[in-house]
Amino acid sequence: MSNFVHIYFETRNLLVRQYTMEDLDGLYEVMSNPKVHQFTKDKNHPWDKLKTQQYIEFFIDKNFVTLDCFHGAIIEKASNRIIGLTGLNPYKENEPEIEWKLGVTYWNKGYATEIGKEIVKEAFQTSDIIGIYGMAEPENMASRRVLQKIGMKYLGVSEFRDQKDAFYYIGRL
Ligand SMILES: CC(C)(COP(=O)(O)OP(=O)(O)OC[C@H]1O[C@@H](n2cnc3c(N)ncnc32)[C@H](O)[C@@H]1OP(=O)(O)O)[C@@H](O)C(=O)NCCC(=O)NCCS
Repeated sequence: MSNFVHIYFETRNLLVRQYTMEDLDGLYEVMSNPKVHQFTKDKNHPWDKLKTQQYIEFFIDKNFVTLDCFHGAIIEKASNRIIGLTGLNPYKENEPEIEWKLGVTYWNKGYATEIGKEIVKEAFQTSDIIGIYGMAEPENMASRRVLQKIGMKYLGVSEFRDQKDAFYYIGRL
C-alpha cells in the first residue's frame, strides 16, 4: 500500500481500514463464495471480479473517515489478510444499519462479535449517531446471535428492502 490508508479502528485480532485496490483478489475470494450470500439479498449472485472491483472503487471514492457511515475492509492482523467487509449503512437519520460479511473459513471465531462491539463503542463515542440497527433474515441464526451478543435488543420481524427481516437495535449507551 503506497498512499495513506485510514484505519477506522483496531481490535485484538482485527483491524478495519479503508479499501485499496490491492484488496481486489482477497475480497473476491471472500465474496465469490455462494455460502457468504446464503442469507443476504445477493443469495443468487455471488460476486464476480468486476462487481468486487466496482464495490472497492465506490468506497475508495467515498473516502469515509468517520464512523457514523463507513465501509471498510476487515484485516486479520495475524495473517495480514483481508477476511471480509463491514460498515454502517445509512438507514434512518443518525441511526445507521450495521453490516458484516466474513469469508467462510473465518466464521465462528468470534470475529464479527469483536468488530460489532467495537463499532458500537467507537461510533457512539466519536459521532452524533443516536442508535444502530441490525437486520438479519429470520433464518440467519449466526447473524442474529451476533446482533444479540453485541448488546442489541430484538424488535421483531418487519419488512426491509422487500423482504421480512428480524430487526435489532441498540441506542446510545
Ligand atoms: C453472520 C457472520 C457475520 C457471523 O460472523 P462470525 O465471526 O462467525 O460470528 P461470531 O463468531 O462472532 O459469532 C457467531 C455466533 O453464532 C452462532 N452460530 C453460528 N451458526 C449458527 C447457527 N446455524 N445457529 C445458531 N447459532 C449459530 C455461533 O455459535 C456464535 O455464537 P456463540 O458465541 O454464542 O457460540 C458470518 O457468519 C457471515 O459472514 N455470514 C455470511 C454473511 C452474513 O450473513 N452477514 C450478516 C448479514 S449482512
